[in-house]
Amino acid sequence: MTDLRINDLRVDEADTEASNHSSEKENEDWIKTLIYQSQGAKEFSYCPYSKFRVGAALLAHDGTVFTGCNVENASYNLGLCAERTTIAKAVSEGYRRFKTIAIASDLEDQFISPCGGCRQFMQEFGDQWSVSKPDGSYVEMTVGELLPVSFGPEDLKKKTMFTTQNGS
Ligand code: THU
Repeated sequence: MTDLRINDLRVDEADTEASNHSSEKENEDWIKTLIYQSQGAKEFSYCPYSKFRVGAALLAHDGTVFTGCNVENASYNLGLCAERTTIAKAVSEGYRRFKTIAIASDLEDQFISPCGGCRQFMQEFGDQWSVSKPDGSYVEMTVGELLPVSFGPEDLKKKTMFTTQNGS
């Protein structure tokens, strides 16, 4: 079983202050809890086509946890990844600031790596993440490393060469 943890998604100043005071022990406890919850979320995976179960547990800035799984469809391209299901659940309930997400699959020896679409989806809300396994080992990477030269919300605010009319 392999899990992935996305750590310290975009936080505001207050959250940064709070997270600076949280101990390593507290962080480890949160990670273990989230990994456990992501494994639980995987049990609800609807994957009759791929038979590849994925679950995710997302920790919001105030300690609320959202869980989700992959949801496939007979029209294959409409299937949802666990990461996107989970983040969409949180955003649709008013949450936009997240600290950590754990992702679980049934892979035996390898870390699950989120698809390109999910990396872009995460990048919208954060820039730091790490990959973890239940044996305690994990590799820390930033979203920037996983999705270099990415397109994000800030790009929409940059100076443009041409102006377009509303609705174009
Ligand atoms: N999947 C996820 O849910 N998350 C990932 O990070 C990679 C892939 C799902 C999509 C599909 O339902 C199944 O795994 C096989 O690709």
